[in-house]
Amino acid sequence: MRSMADELFELEESFLDPAVQDDPFDTYTTLHEKCPVYKVPENGLYMVTKYEDVREVLTTPSIYSSRPGTGAGGLNEASKAHAQVFQEKGWVKGRTLQRTDPPEHSHYRKILGRVFTNRAVEGMIPRIDEITHSLIDQFIDRGQCEFVSEFALPLPGIFICEQLGLPAEEYETFKKWADAMLAMSQRPLSPDEAVIQAEYEVEAQHHLAREFEKRREEPTDDLISALVHAHQEDEPFTMEELQDLMHQLVTGGFETTTAAIGTSMWLLLRYPDQMQKLRDDRSLQKNFIEESLRFDSPVAGLWRTAACPAEIGGASIPEGSAVMPRFAAANRDAEVFESPEVFDITREDLHKHVAFGLGSHFCMGASLARAELMSAFTAILDRMDNIRLAKPLDDNPHKFSFFLRPMKELHIEFDKI
Ligand code: HEM
Repeated sequence: MRSMADELFELEESFLDPAVQDDPFDTYTTLHEKCPVYKVPENGLYMVTKYEDVREVLTTPSIYSSRPGTGAGGLNEASKAHAQVFQEKGWVKGRTLQRTDPPEHSHYRKILGRVFTNRAVEGMIPRIDEITHSLIDQFIDRGQCEFVSEFALPLPGIFICEQLGLPAEEYETFKKWADAMLAMSQRPLSPDEAVIQAEYEVEAQHHLAREFEKRREEPTDDLISALVHAHQEDEPFTMEELQDLMHQLVTGGFETTTAAIGTSMWLLLRYPDQMQKLRDDRSLQKNFIEESLRFDSPVAGLWRTAACPAEIGGASIPEGSAVMPRFAAANRDAEVFESPEVFDITREDLHKHVAFGLGSHFCMGASLARAELMSAFTAILDRMDNIRLAKPLDDNPHKFSFFLRPMKELHIEFDKI
């Protein structure tokens, strides 16, 4: 058993160093071997990196709670300023779904389960395909594009935007709101910056409140309407709950899918032999998508709070500590995946990956995300040949984020088919 003192294990470079964040995979290997539960000195977070330990965290909510703690230092000035804007001008979000533990969580999950059915997602596919093709139409004759801003961002963005009752032309407004919803968790903000982001989000809340009311009176076939009416015999969601659920759907469903689409394309460019294999046998497309999610997981890690003193992976974690199951590291564990550092779209162990989490909080949007990825790469491979990098990537090709993997940009060239 490692003692608390052993938590002083030091990495050669800080885990928060932008270069390490951008390419953390060697560090994951070091941690697997030397310190599977690593306390990040800068923020006191316990990062759990081994597959079995990540599974244990995800399936033991009585110890690793999803109810947010305030962190060791309590709320900072920026968080207080941010919260005040909602109290004064919008709605303080209720704590729902991802921010709850059983049995409260099961209540939300049961109702939301009526919204995210396989049938509902199948019904969405024709519209996803239309958006995919219309985006490709806009650059196909040019023989090149900046893949992130012209495709990976707008595909899930326009789709959710429409589901929220905003027309595709309002995509820029939607993007501003979605960015604001994510802002506090991406990087430290000053109190003034936090207030600006909160005000954008309050603007989104008022838009959503109007859309909720419209759907209450006249149901439609979009996500908002489904949410408003999903309660059936249960109590209807309050405005505070609806606002929190929408916040989770937007933050959980937009940048994550953008990161998955961008990274999957980059992987095809980095591994042309795998691209060729895929072109030769298109039945491998599902596998390709799962292998991309395993190899470079779009949600690298998320938060739990230790509800009591905990022992895991040989480490002792004090009650109240922030704990991060690191999905991306678990998916590179050599004890579970053979040669995990090899990108291989014919792997047979892919069903084990935890890129969508595991247990009661398993991603509600997994089938939607998979449908978007499937639509994207079917159209790309059908319509574009000889895809190649048009411009060398930045030294750190990802935007800085401690938990997501969004690429900054990806310039590609191709031959139109
Ligand atoms: C490739 C894209 C995506 C990835 C990698 C991803 C990943 C994840 C992960 C790892 C979790 C587990 C959270 C936890 O254990 O705390 C999660 C939960 C969740 N995801 Fe996704 N997600 C993606 C797309 C989506 C989409 C498209 C939506 C919906 C529009 C969505 C909605 C949610 C929701 C609502 C939860 C919370 C479920 C709960 O707490 O019960 N996600 N996702």
